[in-house]
Amino acid sequence: MNKANIKLQLFLQMALVVICGQPCSGKSIAAACLAEALQEAESKPSVRIINESSFHLNRNQSYADMPSEKNLRGVLRSEVDRSLSRDNIIIVDSLNSIKGYRYELWCLARAAGTRYCVLHCDVEEPNCRKWNQERREKVEPAYDDNIFEDLVRRFERPDSKNRWDSPLFELWPSKDGIEKSSAAIVDAVTYLTKKVDSKTKDVRVLQPTIATQSARVTEANSLYEMDRATLEVMNMIVEAQSRAMGGPLNGVSLGPGLPSIDTSRPVGLPELRRLRRTFIKLTGQSSLSGPPPPSDADSAKRMFVDYLNRELGNG
Ligand SMILES: *[C@@H]1O[C@H](CO)[C@@H](O)[C@H](O)[C@H]1NC(C)=O
Ligand SMILES: *[C@@H]1O[C@H](CO)[C@@H](O)[C@H](O)[C@H]1NC(C)=O
Repeated sequence: MNKANIKLQLFLQMALVVICGQPCSGKSIAAACLAEALQEAESKPSVRIINESSFHLNRNQSYADMPSEKNLRGVLRSEVDRSLSRDNIIIVDSLNSIKGYRYELWCLARAAGTRYCVLHCDVEEPNCRKWNQERREKVEPAYDDNIFEDLVRRFERPDSKNRWDSPLFELWPSKDGIEKSSAAIVDAVTYLTKKVDSKTKDVRVLQPTIATQSARVTEANSLYEMDRATLEVMNMIVEAQSRAMGGPLNGVSLGPGLPSIDTSRPVGLPELRRLRRTFIKLTGQSSLSGPPPPSDADSAKRMFVDYLNRELGNG
């Protein structure tokens, strides 16, 4: 194999695996099991697990309130973003229970041009509850009961019909345990290590760029639209905030047909600029797959306001 070929093979083996499941559903065991199975594969990919404990994050503190939880997701997301180009296969071991968050991770995989899949640990709530209890008795890291119930309630099940939940490999730890021989682990390893060429149909390598000229033109238009619309929203917020003497904005209308903006605290221009850049990046990457890009200025504005409310509000 010449150098370019080796490089290509490495590139094609890059992947992001999102582990998803209720608290105490066996996700970390599944992640470790998958990592081990992958390392035994013929192509010997380098595998890295990104989890909460690698950042010394305490479960109760990380999920105590919305800002902490958002911070945790942000930390994991930036680590995924940084690592995707360095390591072959990244496994994110965290709840990953919010649909919008899995979508963001999927966008990162897409921007990096890698394979992607979701491994779901499907365990009934009573079992998860029991496992949390058992951990506490064994003095292993457990969740506070209130936090546990809140997380269980907010869990958004992956659905293989969503591009960001697909392909979806399902594990049933309470019924079958978690083994390297579990069907979901075997199938995931096959999917992640399979050699691909132009004829391969069953493995999707996400593409950062788009193929046809006309799609590019459409994308350019929608990016331009997006740029203008978000700038307008940003200016309206700055104005509203100066009218509110720099305080937080609660239910302030940004114009007819637009959702109102709710911020739990004042936001400065640098933060708004940063959020706008991230938003444009996220929507730009979703132009061919995933939710459709906004087709007109108004829907771009609505999406941006919704995004800001999620990022700046109380949750
Ligand atoms: C987190 O990942 C590291 C490897 O990156 C591993 O050594 C550690 O056991 C993992 N923690 C848990 C709780 O699984
Ligand atoms: C979280 O809080 C519960 C009690 O509310 C405690 O039993 C548990 O050990 C705490 N977990 C961690 C990781 O500190």
